[in-house]
Amino acid sequence: MADSIRTFSNAAAPQQDRLQQLTGHLRHSPLPDAELLHNLGLYLTRQTLSRLLFLDELYRQIVPVHGVIMEFGVRWGQNMALFHALRGIYEPYNYNRRLIGFDTFEGFPHVAEQDGGRAQVGDYNVTEGYQQQLEQLLALHEAESPIAHKRKFELVKGDATVTVKEYLAQHPETVVAFAYFDFDLYAPTKACLEAILPRMPKGAILAFDEVNCPEFPGETQALDEVLGLRNHALRRSPLNPLISYIVL
Ligand SMILES: C[S@@+](CC[C@H](N)C(=O)[O-])C[C@H]1O[C@@H](n2cnc3c(N)ncnc32)[C@H](O)[C@@H]1O
Repeated sequence: MADSIRTFSNAAAPQQDRLQQLTGHLRHSPLPDAELLHNLGLYLTRQTLSRLLFLDELYRQIVPVHGVIMEFGVRWGQNMALFHALRGIYEPYNYNRRLIGFDTFEGFPHVAEQDGGRAQVGDYNVTEGYQQQLEQLLALHEAESPIAHKRKFELVKGDATVTVKEYLAQHPETVVAFAYFDFDLYAPTKACLEAILPRMPKGAILAFDEVNCPEFPGETQALDEVLGLRNHALRRSPLNPLISYIVL
């Protein structure tokens, strides 16, 4: 099942081969269980490490901003786990900084003409029952954190063009400090941006994984239609060629 999941990669063939070798080393690691998690740096590529460092750079900017973190497009959930760890580092007692992730956990539910013809329904699927596995994993991390008795994360399953409005109607208190957009697609990016913008105070951050990305043109169009590309500084970091962000 995992082998049939369709995703896109920009890696050239020799690089893909080296990544496959690294994966083999991780899957067949001789390290004892008691030491494996402490040595994950052995398998980190520069690209993965710089992405983690960039998320750290973004997280530090929202520490003084009140509100929750939303991720739009969770997939395997690495960002949710990282945001959890970053909260534990920078604001361990801020139990109000809830993490809410939106995904179908079944890949793209629909694709629009604005998405350029490459993406297909079902791309970026996950394996059967993965949402429950991710919930267990995040709960384990939470059990290791301060104020562990308070649930501080939520995974919202379904088409986010629908679920984001339902979520906000059920949680009218919601203020959004940080929204990370990684749907790759036009329609859900536009719908979720429109839904959450009225809940975002000055200083809050909107981050985008695929703005100015030729493979996924719809995200740029959604941003332009909702906020106007000329109305905000679109910032980046030397740590990553793709992620951009706006400080409102
Ligand atoms: C590129 S993946 C996200 C990757 C993830 N943020 C990461 O860093 O590994 C895109 C995700 O968006 C989700 N997605 C796309 N359109 C959606 C929609 N309308 N509603 C909910 N999820 C959607 C897909 O299911 C997929 O998991």
